[in-house]
Amino acid sequence: MNAHVKESAAFVKFRLGADAKTAVILGSGLGALAKDIAEKKELPYRDIPHFPQETVSGHEGTLIGGFLSGKEVLVMNGRFHYYQGYSMAEVTYPLYVLRESGVENLIVSNAAGGINERFHPGTLMILKDFINFFGTNPLIGPRMDDEGPQFPDMSRPFSRRLTDLARKKAQELGVPYTEGVYLGTTGPSYETAAEIRMMRILGADAVGMSTVPEIIAGNYLKMEILGISCITNMATGLASGPHAHEKVLEEARKAEGDFCRWVKEIIGEI
Ligand code: HPA
Repeated sequence: MNAHVKESAAFVKFRLGADAKTAVILGSGLGALAKDIAEKKELPYRDIPHFPQETVSGHEGTLIGGFLSGKEVLVMNGRFHYYQGYSMAEVTYPLYVLRESGVENLIVSNAAGGINERFHPGTLMILKDFINFFGTNPLIGPRMDDEGPQFPDMSRPFSRRLTDLARKKAQELGVPYTEGVYLGTTGPSYETAAEIRMMRILGADAVGMSTVPEIIAGNYLKMEILGISCITNMATGLASGPHAHEKVLEEARKAEGDFCRWVKEIIGEI
């Protein structure tokens, strides 16, 4: 692994005392899970050596160590987005640090727009596959981890074991969920109605501005990944009016209760 990643991971382990096998990346408006963490220790991203430097206000993130359902976890509360001007290497840098810290299981969450007409704001969707619409790939360039394959396979980007566990736990808890294909695009402008029609033809059920780079890097690093989208709005052309970021956050917060219960149960049996 790259020397910078090793230094970042050593710092995270030292400051958070972390020996977590599971990490969670919290999407916009889904931060409530952080409140349930026991024996919580927080590390602002800006304090971690070699982490991308935050430039955009309102997007400050912290890495949290502690326990959920009795299992040790590392939780990324906030992520780096390509639309903020970070490079793909910066967007995915935390994944390498998590891996080097010993993380094997990754739960990635996000807020997304619904393209599938059966969805509605508040729908929770397990990602069964994705479409990379970023027009680039986070693995372009010098390899960060020499052991990773040069051409990673993407036939099964999500872990069957974690996806089955998520299905089982949703049924036990009575949390309604659906499954679908997530299309990741750069943003930050929302899509046009014509783009959404195209994305539906291409096979997308939901669209968002994150997650895909992280899943690609996570696969390269041989992590087991579960993806969950919270549909916060219907996509352009299917929605009744123009989009507003505040509305996205408000809808995510409404679904947060189910999301938190669900993820905690999954972690308990991971
Ligand atoms: N489009 C893209 N990203 C999003 C959306 C959307 O409609 N909603 C939440 N994130």
